[in-house]
Amino acid sequence: MAELVALSADTLDAAYSVHCTCQSFPWSKNTFADGLSAPYFSYVITAGNDVQGYYLCHQVLDEVTLMDVGVVPSARGQGLGKQLLLHVISESAKRAASMIFLEVRASNHTAVSLYQACGFSHIDVRKNYYPTASGREDACIMRLALTAR
Ligand SMILES: CC(C)(COP(=O)(O)OP(=O)(O)OC[C@H]1O[C@@H](n2cnc3c(N)ncnc32)[C@H](O)[C@@H]1OP(=O)(O)O)[C@@H](O)C(=O)NCCC(=O)NCCS
Repeated sequence: MAELVALSADTLDAAYSVHCTCQSFPWSKNTFADGLSAPYFSYVITAGNDVQGYYLCHQVLDEVTLMDVGVVPSARGQGLGKQLLLHVISESAKRAASMIFLEVRASNHTAVSLYQACGFSHIDVRKNYYPTASGREDACIMRLALTAR
């Protein structure tokens, strides 16, 4: 059964490997490790001893930004991404946040569907924000207001 636990020094390497399988332009390990401490909060989802997914959030006052979320390819389509997102929302509410923001590649229809299923709405577009193998692509900015829920 999947369990959510705070990212720690013990799970950092495994979570970073999942990040590297999930992102075409992964962060450095040091950047990912920033997720271990404030102003970040980060969780992994595990099955047994295996890290199957993670998320990293950054909080400033009552605004949380979901910096990254990923599920290992072999465990996708089983509800783990949604479990992670629902945890982002409940943890943000617990931390007295009123808004959650995120940016997502316009071509990432899977992630956009997940965010919409969890109540996020499109609020803006950053043109040519992300690098791609062949150039640049837009970022969709999405927001969830917690106070209106
Ligand atoms: C996005 C991601 C985290 C989803 O994880 P997941 O565990 O497969 O997602 P779930 O099984 O919980 O599915 C949740 C919802 O996502 C959407 N979704 C999942 N797989 C999908 C697919 N292949 N196509 C379209 N929508 C899909 C659906 O809305 C789904 O809800 P539903 O099952 O009620 O229809 C995963 O695909 C991933 O790690 N992708 C690579 C990293 C990434 O793009 N991260 C986002 C960065 S902004």
